[in-house]
Amino acid sequence: MSATQTSANFPLPPGEYGLPFLGETLNFFSDPQFAQKRHDQYGAVFKTRLLGQRTIFLRGSEANQFVLTHENQFFQVSWPPSTKMLLGKLSLALQTGDIHQQRRKLLAQAFMPRALTGYIPAMVDITQRYGQRWQSQENLTWYPELRNYTLDVACKLLTGLDQGSQTPLGQFFEVWCEGLFSIPFPFPWTRFGRAKVNRDRLLQEVEKIILQRQSDDTVGNDTLGLLIQAEDETGNRLSLEELKDQVLLLLFAGHETLTSAIASFCLLMGQHPQILEKVRDEQQAFLDQPMTLDTLKQMTYLDQVLREVLRLVPPVGGGFRTVLEPCEFNGYQIPKGWNLLYQIGSTHQDQQLYPDPERFDPDRFSPAQVAERAKYGYIPFGGGIRECIGKEFARLEMKIFAAHLARHYDWMLLPDQNLDLVTIPTPHPRDGLKVKFKPRPAQP
Ligand code: HEM
Repeated sequence: MSATQTSANFPLPPGEYGLPFLGETLNFFSDPQFAQKRHDQYGAVFKTRLLGQRTIFLRGSEANQFVLTHENQFFQVSWPPSTKMLLGKLSLALQTGDIHQQRRKLLAQAFMPRALTGYIPAMVDITQRYGQRWQSQENLTWYPELRNYTLDVACKLLTGLDQGSQTPLGQFFEVWCEGLFSIPFPFPWTRFGRAKVNRDRLLQEVEKIILQRQSDDTVGNDTLGLLIQAEDETGNRLSLEELKDQVLLLLFAGHETLTSAIASFCLLMGQHPQILEKVRDEQQAFLDQPMTLDTLKQMTYLDQVLREVLRLVPPVGGGFRTVLEPCEFNGYQIPKGWNLLYQIGSTHQDQQLYPDPERFDPDRFSPAQVAERAKYGYIPFGGGIRECIGKEFARLEMKIFAAHLARHYDWMLLPDQNLDLVTIPTPHPRDGLKVKFKPRPAQP
């Protein structure tokens, strides 16, 4: 890896810009193999144009390290225009520099071990409730159900709202999510236009929740309670406008990505019953013990399985950055003002890091294999100063969900369904994952 600020002597990366303004945007949104095909043609670095922006794609663990360790120096986070407009400028994902660092510190309190411990009973409770509900349906299209499940968990733990998926907030949320990665034409009939209207509706709902909470005698110990009470270094509290944007971001991040992750777990276990059996064997040792951070940590095989799920089907495919200072990577110039995409999905498919990368193999995460792997070769949660702040929350929820289901239920993939993955906004099976779901016989 090499980086320098005197980059103008180096050539631009290979690649085509495509159509005027739109560039290759339509291909990018519609073809899951967009990056793969161009990397095959051009190598680890290529250029293109997306939504009017000249953009460089980088692949590989060295490229990830280069991008993720130079945030604020050469690069700065930059989401697509639709995402920016729908998230709101006061959300952590869009804040930069000192304010980003301050807010991260503040929000991180909601994901410390003490806070996580407090989340476990509600996560277990909601998981049990959904297990019973699915059992009574027997044949079900699981993905929409899983969306409701993770939204209920996020609403409860982040804002105190019960069964959020059944409230107006839940309905507005779904339409809003659909526009997050779209072309930002603001007409009533476009995905983006509908999402914009629903952002306003969502903010009204979130405002009601915040105002209610502020008028309660105690503000509570969940994430919203923490954010309402939090003070920055100068003793100022977050404004109502910022509270709304931050809550909306956390609800989104805590829901969309996790739905994809647990849906992939369900799918991959349906396709690899022998691995599910090994997960169950490990669970035998924990059947009499409560789920705590400590017991969950001891489920090491389940941990490997979940890591492999996030390798093979990472919910977030990569991250956009804008170039603050010209620099150079592997002999190519990276000009100031351009956009850049670091890639999680392509890194996790790198043959050098993961031989036979399409194969689902939890042994890749045995301690010996992990020790040998390049640090930036496994990045489902990104890295550097913008690494996912909810990483431990996500891992906790995935583990509770997976352990509970493996212990108590069987599921079989129904025939005649399309299991290909739709990738936007996060990967999920095209036909919604149809399964036969039933309780397991009581264990001796
Ligand atoms: C399996 C689940 C999840 C995955 C795969 C995931 C992945 C990621 C990735 C890759 C990033 C970095 C994006 C970048 O580099 O531009 C990120 C950022 C973020 N994630 Fe997650 N995430 C997950 C769950 C969560 C949860 C549960 C929360 C909160 C409840 C959360 C909150 C955030 C926030 C606020 C950021 C922005 C951080 C910043 O810009 O400083 N994520 N996530």
